[in-house]
Amino acid sequence: MKLKSSTSPKWLPHALEHFDEVLIDHAHCEKKAAANALSLLQVYPDVPGLPAQMARLAREESAHLAKVLSLMEERGLTLGRDAGDPYAKALQGLMRNGSRERRLDRLLIAGVIESRSHERLQLLAEGLTEPSLRRLYSELARSEDGHQKLFVRLAKNVEDEVAVEERLEALLEAEARVVAQLPIRAAIH
Ligand SMILES: [Fe+2]
Ligand SMILES: [Fe+2]
Repeated sequence: MKLKSSTSPKWLPHALEHFDEVLIDHAHCEKKAAANALSLLQVYPDVPGLPAQMARLAREESAHLAKVLSLMEERGLTLGRDAGDPYAKALQGLMRNGSRERRLDRLLIAGVIESRSHERLQLLAEGLTEPSLRRLYSELARSEDGHQKLFVRLAKNVEDEVAVEERLEALLEAEARVVAQLPIRAAIH
């Protein structure tokens, strides 16, 4: 999928300047991605391929979480409570009612979030100066790109290609509007 907007050039300098805060937010994002994978497995066990894919995804996101937590530990940072993510909340608000619509939206919204994460993690990979951090962030960015593709594939297992593309297009446009309205934060989104 292709995002409908690029991140503001103001985001990266802000994120680098407040990198500790970004790390904490990033840990919460990975935690939520792992939890969402298990939740999808719980709610849609009958979608072909989904349980095994979500089990693998939960493992991968948990591994990302562990890496970010160890970076935080090196810096003496603690996780603390999740302050909530206005971006993810706004996207959840796009979810339609009706079981088929909801199923498609849950898969595609998860994919859109992965896609934006991919873009932002890649920006961090390019903006950070420490080689080990650059390597880690570029590895994580690549992984999130794989995840957005996985969600689109799963969506095409439950609805026909045209319906998936149409809904994805609408969600990507809505996501670009959400991003444009939110303030720049020291957070992944
Ligand atoms: Fe991740
Ligand atoms: Fe991911």
